[in-house]
Amino acid sequence: MTEAVELPTQDLKGRDWLTTEDWSDAEIDTALDLAATLKAQFKAGVTTLHLPHKTAFLIFFDKSTRTRNSFEAGITQLGGHAHFIDSETSQIAHGESAKDMGIILSSYGHGIAIRHDLVPGEGQAYMREVAKWAEVPVINMQCDVDHPCQTLADLMTIREEFGPNLRGRKVAVSWAYAPSYMKPMSVPQGLLMLMSRCGMDVVLAHPPEYGLMPEVMEKAVANAHKHDVKLEVVDNMAEAFEDADVVYPKSWGCLDLFHDPDEAMHLAARYKDWTCTGELMKLTKKDSIYMHCLPADRGYEVTDAVIDGPHSRIYPEAENRLHTAKALMALTM
Ligand code: CP
Repeated sequence: MTEAVELPTQDLKGRDWLTTEDWSDAEIDTALDLAATLKAQFKAGVTTLHLPHKTAFLIFFDKSTRTRNSFEAGITQLGGHAHFIDSETSQIAHGESAKDMGIILSSYGHGIAIRHDLVPGEGQAYMREVAKWAEVPVINMQCDVDHPCQTLADLMTIREEFGPNLRGRKVAVSWAYAPSYMKPMSVPQGLLMLMSRCGMDVVLAHPPEYGLMPEVMEKAVANAHKHDVKLEVVDNMAEAFEDADVVYPKSWGCLDLFHDPDEAMHLAARYKDWTCTGELMKLTKKDSIYMHCLPADRGYEVTDAVIDGPHSRIYPEAENRLHTAKALMALTM
């Protein structure tokens, strides 16, 4: 079945999606509404060719399962095509500049999406430099500061669970221990910036060394003030989980130690007890949901009983990456 669906607006054509902070509340609602429509149409088998024959270039400086595949599948379903560009096997590895990438890829296609998340101070700056020179929209597929595609899908998942009016609800974002690798700070940072605009009270829990970037905290505090919600920082998971509607415990690296992975993992090992357990979930509301952007370190960040249990919404959350990626591409490209 094919349906020629009008996009809700043309106003976002050509716009970059570099942080959620760059889009107004109304523009984020537009993206979420379109994502919900595209999700229903996907499930109904409706063909939605909003981007026929258009090309998106996907540049990855880091690994990915959900992001790469949601963008590749998403643009195919919109009638277009994606090119995967690996920073290690393209001329980026020989120093090709952000300016050249922006100008040249703009001349070949219709959108550029970038993941550059592992080094604080680099990813967002790289994307802004590409965007400065590109004549097509640039989408942030995760940088050092924000993971706006993830947090948009997270907000979609929370609204599906609790409805659009989230006022009075509580979301707990917590650090958790992971031995696998030093995970970027962009998911908790993106959550703090976006969730503080949604009517929910926000609690951030972390050991003392795991504070977020000061400029991100300033934005979250300003958002909370503007939207008349509470924003608290605590130093233990139990306090954060108390009466929470949404819990989002995950690991991230220490800002001062990204240059020294061995020391970073040594520090993290001091906090092995920061695990999301069934006991902690008992402190939350009865109908609370557990979220994680994935991949999760099972048995460390979270027990199997929680991540596979009744509170877990990890799979709808991951699924919503597809629908939100399609909405962002359809609106901007
Ligand atoms: N959550 C997320 O961005 O997953 P990937 O790293 O697999 O893309």
